[in-house]
Amino acid sequence: MNWQAAIERTLRTTTANLPRFTEKFPLVSKGTPKYELEDQTSWTEGFWVGILWLSYEYGRDPAIREAAVDAVASMKRRLEQNRQLDHHDIGFLYSLSAKAQWILEKDEQARGVALQAADTLMKRWRETSQLFQAWGPEGDPDNGGRIIIDCLMNLPLLFWATEQTGNPIYAERARIHAEKSRRFLVRGDDSSYHTFYFDQETGDSVRGGTHQGFRDGSTWTRGQAWGIYGFALAYRYTQEPSFLETAVRMARYFVAHLPEDDVAYWDFDVPQQEGTPRDSSASAIAACGMLEIAGHLSADDPERQDLLDWAQRSAAALTERYFTAGNPEEEGFLRHGSYSVRGGVSPDDFVIWGDYFYLEALLRLHQGTPGYWYER
Ligand code: GLY
Repeated sequence: MNWQAAIERTLRTTTANLPRFTEKFPLVSKGTPKYELEDQTSWTEGFWVGILWLSYEYGRDPAIREAAVDAVASMKRRLEQNRQLDHHDIGFLYSLSAKAQWILEKDEQARGVALQAADTLMKRWRETSQLFQAWGPEGDPDNGGRIIIDCLMNLPLLFWATEQTGNPIYAERARIHAEKSRRFLVRGDDSSYHTFYFDQETGDSVRGGTHQGFRDGSTWTRGQAWGIYGFALAYRYTQEPSFLETAVRMARYFVAHLPEDDVAYWDFDVPQQEGTPRDSSASAIAACGMLEIAGHLSADDPERQDLLDWAQRSAAALTERYFTAGNPEEEGFLRHGSYSVRGGVSPDDFVIWGDYFYLEALLRLHQGTPGYWYER
């Protein structure tokens, strides 16, 4: 597969999107070829900024850099004004924006914004239950003791903050949260719950459940993908073998349950058949996670070659059958992503995180550029 040709085509789309995606940010496309734009109200704004940084890193186009710098300034204002940040997705938002700028350019102001974001995320730590609360205010009756698997991708911001500041508290809490996720979100057959509830008063485990999956005990494919990549990143920062083993096992489960065309449906427990919505973003995230895992395995480990093959197959399937390939009519890269099929929200659309992870996968495959989850 010619990954470089695919990257060049994404650049065409990104360049065409620049004039429209300035003040506002793309989230999902809602049944049209264009993205709906929103004003810093979601967990997703970092993905567009991440696309800009990846594209700039690859092509060095000053117009793309300018758009990325402007977007980081907008993210900085949001943090200063503490707008719509009462959730754990601060890691997604600031790893791919301010932290990315620091990683690429060693910009001190961007580093400061990313560290301030880490401090904001730390406010979601709940001492009694020893976890980062995903959603809602402290003490919230439904969400107070709730973790979700997606949070594993927010933890790298905290691990990084410890590296940067020398203060161990960020990484200690991130490690505890990752271990809790490993014990309670991952099931014995290597599938996963989307969410898990703990008693806020005692910290006792209560039950697994779902928010975006088919049912409480099903495996939401994007959640499984967050786990693959998130545990691989937890391993990178902690070097605890159990995180790497868990990432590998979750990856094997993901691949073993894929349909024939190698791109995931939205949940592994819905009928895997024609007409069921896909989640192309889950496959893009899983491919990045598999490439991350492979980087931690020795060259003679047979698992490593399997993971590399699976990641390539996944990226190839997306490129051949889901990619818009620079079509000027379409603002996204990957068709057939789903936000929440269960909630009836964009069950079959462009989703901006799918585009980000697709581009990250292409760049990993073409030139080993890994995204902005950690220092290089
Ligand atoms: N982190 C939210 C989602 O994956 O939809």
